[in-house]
Formats: sequence, structure tokens, C-alpha cells
Amino acid sequence: VRQHTLADINKLYNSKTPISVVTAHDYITGRLADASKVDIVLIGDSLAMVAKGFPSTLEIPFDDYYYSCLSVLRGISSKYVIADLPFGSFESSLEKCVESAMKLMKLGKIGSLKIEGSYEFTREISRLIQLGIPVTGHIGLQPQKFNALGGYKVQGKLSTDAVELYKQALFLQDLGCSMLVLECIPYKLAKFLTDNLRIPTIGIGAGQGTSAQVLVMSDLLGMLNEKSAKFVKPYMNFNELGLNAVNSYSEDVKSHAFPNDHTHGYVMKDQEFEDFV
Ligand code: KIV
Ligand code: NA
Repeated sequence: VRQHTLADINKLYNSKTPISVVTAHDYITGRLADASKVDIVLIGDSLAMVAKGFPSTLEIPFDDYYYSCLSVLRGISSKYVIADLPFGSFESSLEKCVESAMKLMKLGKIGSLKIEGSYEFTREISRLIQLGIPVTGHIGLQPQKFNALGGYKVQGKLSTDAVELYKQALFLQDLGCSMLVLECIPYKLAKFLTDNLRIPTIGIGAGQGTSAQVLVMSDLLGMLNEKSAKFVKPYMNFNELGLNAVNSYSEDVKSHAFPNDHTHGYVMKDQEFEDFV
């Protein structure tokens, strides 16, 4: 199978076909996403929280994220892939940014790198684009800035903040970003931005007016026993189903219902066993 490219994604965008994006955080979720009908797989640094148990995305070491990318990518053969540049892996110098970006791109299969922010990373974003690495922007709620934002809150509700987000969106488009994530902003604003840009927007908590939608795989599948954000739609309760299954297994072990020698076991000829004992 041929892996999808940015040209394939732009074709969907130009024909106004809604684009579906899901995150993956390991080999299993990578394979699941690859086998699914989604258009894009995002290796989100949200994996720090949902797959590794860090309290925020700030704590994950680059190498830890990098190895998760390796795991996901082993499961990918057809989907277009976007990966994050995690907190601390690109901000301190242009050299560091290029080095981290190169490490990720050398894994192969990654079609774009995502950076949270705008003006403050003008040089970084421009450099990566110059080097032929498509960059996906990310504005609105930026989880890597949750300390400064005072938590994970909806952004752009006030008209002045909305104007600022519009400026950032145009700025990132003019810098040459290929796509733009809009996280947790009012749906009217997300639709306005989408209608006034000529690059695809990927919304999360941004209503139905964006070019694409993204959900975190563990949210989509209900994998964690936690209250999810308002913008999440869990499509199944994996946590409950999984817990029930593991409990059934444990009960079966204790009641000798599993394993069944005939169904799950291996036969030894009577004569062989007699010779043995
Ligand atoms: O890390 C992530 O999962 C993301 C998406 C929610 C956009 O950046
Ligand atoms: Na992210």
C-alpha cells in the first residue's frame, strides 16, 4: 500500500470533504488507526498523559516521545502522519529545533510536524518549512502553555481574543504552514477562521465548521476511567468492557472454567505419557 501524502489531504480539503483525524500512541493504536477509515493519524504529545501517565505534556522527555513514535509508526502503512514537537525539544535554539525535527523525520512515514504557538516560533517554523518539512500550526488552547493559560480553558471567547487568533492564523498561513489545529475555541470563530483561510483547519473542541476533526484515541474509545472534556464524544466504553473482560478471566481461573483442556490445551498420546511416568 502507498502511504498517503499531503497532496491526498489537500485533495480532500479542496473538494470540501470532511477530514477525520485520530491520535495513536503505541503500536496497537497505530495499527487500529491505520486499518480504520480515518484520513490522518496524529502522534499527539497527549500520549504523555494518556499512555504514559504524566500529569501534563510538559514532563515527557523527548526520547520517551520519540520511542512512542517508533512504536506507532511500526503499525502505520497507509495513513498520512502528523507528529508533535514536544515541550522542551525545540524552543531553546534553532539548532535544537532542527535536530529534534530531523530525528523525527528520519523515522520515515511522518508527513508533517506540529508546533504549538505562533509569533514566538516564527524562526523555528520558517526553518523547518525551508528544509522541506511541512509544519502544522496549533493555536487556541495550547496544552504546552497550560500554566500560563491558567488551565485547559476555551480560548477566543472575547472579540479581542478572537481578533488575536485570526491574526495568528493568518500569520501561520503566511509563514507556510500546511495545516492548522484549532483547539477549544467557539465554533463560530473556528468556522470564520476556516472560511477565511486557504489551508485545512483541524478542529478539536472547535465545532463542525473546521476542515478536519481530531479526537484523542483513548477519548474516542473511552479507555480511561475519567470524566472527559465537553468536546469529547466517546464512541465506546473500552474501560468498562475491558475491566469486565479481565474480571471474567480472573473468575474463570478461580472456578477452573479457563483454560479448558480440550479447547485450549495440547494433547499427548496416552502411551507417551505412560512411558514418561
Ligand atoms: O497531542 C494531541 O493529541 C494534540 C491534538 C489534541 C490536537 O495535539
Ligand atoms: Na499535542
